[in-house]
Amino acid sequence: MQRIFSGIQPSGNLHLGNYLGAIQNWLTLQNEYDSFFCVVDLHAITVPQDPQKLREKVLEVAKIYLAAGIDPNKSTIFIQSHVKEHAELCWILNTIARLPELEKMTQFKDKSQKQEGGSVGVGLFDYPVLMAADILLYNANLVPVGEDQLQHIELTKTLARRFNQKFGEVFTIPEAHFTKEGMRVMGLDDPTKKMSKSAASEYNYIALTDSPATIREKIKKAVTDSGSKVKAGADKPALTNLLTIYSLLSGKKINQLEDEYADKGYGDFKKDLAEVVVDFIDGFQKKFNSLDNNEVLKILDQGAQKAGEIAGKKMQEVKLKVGLS
Ligand code: AMP
Ligand code: TRP
Repeated sequence: MQRIFSGIQPSGNLHLGNYLGAIQNWLTLQNEYDSFFCVVDLHAITVPQDPQKLREKVLEVAKIYLAAGIDPNKSTIFIQSHVKEHAELCWILNTIARLPELEKMTQFKDKSQKQEGGSVGVGLFDYPVLMAADILLYNANLVPVGEDQLQHIELTKTLARRFNQKFGEVFTIPEAHFTKEGMRVMGLDDPTKKMSKSAASEYNYIALTDSPATIREKIKKAVTDSGSKVKAGADKPALTNLLTIYSLLSGKKINQLEDEYADKGYGDFKKDLAEVVVDFIDGFQKKFNSLDNNEVLKILDQGAQKAGEIAGKKMQEVKLKVGLS
């Protein structure tokens, strides 16, 4: 059985972009693949975090996976820092990664610009190498992510090939997996930029924790394009984004929605879209709130054990090849 690996950082508010770009794909993939879904807390601390908030966020993200429908009987869910091999393999991969490869990562450039006082940590620079370690430890074949991660997956492939060439075949070369529609959900306040946890305005995103009233207000205020037709297309980035969200949550095709709204305006469309989003988030939140923390901690413990066994074996193989055992 082929394997998939993916992860989300326990920082900021998870939003519809995270769900439609990543988690929604995991739900179908978990039926066909041996699936590993990680809460990547070591990645989160590459920018400053409040320790107590981080602790809470880690549990929250694990609960989001479960509430969204990741089934612990089919998939392995765990916390990155509970499996020590992630940091260990990262160090070894650091010795074959090259400075210019990391310097050209666009996420690093973006995030380092946002750090106050110009103090950019070495961890932030090294972030893609840790991500490569996450993926390669498990011989993952596919990595389901949004578009912003494709450059990191290319680096992962480069590092895996380089290691294999130097030391012999150890790592599987992974491929990114994404859907054309969900790979880049755009901001509601600016459809030229992606929906982001770290956006300046909360009108940029719909958080999975937003209340119905907030969702309705955010969609009402969402930017639209000139004209009045509910249509997708290159000249209508805002409507394309709203139609995409509607389509992915309702399962209706975009052209079907365009037909349905052919005689209606933006106002009617937005009202209906808000109800589709409220319905989805309401169902999601009900499941989230019904989860028992102790049960979730148990699932995470079992997950770390299963992941740890695979990662431990892989690390032994790596150390043997490198000459560390
Ligand atoms: P992060 O929140 O940066 O840990 O991202 C978690 C996952 O959500 C990754 O697979 C991202 O590629 C994906 N993601 C984040 N923002 C978006 C977005 N606006 N559209 C689609 N996918 C996204
Ligand atoms: N870097 C990813 C993000 O910000 C999260 C991540 C860490 C990840 N390790 C991973 C995603 C391994 C896929 C596979 O979204």
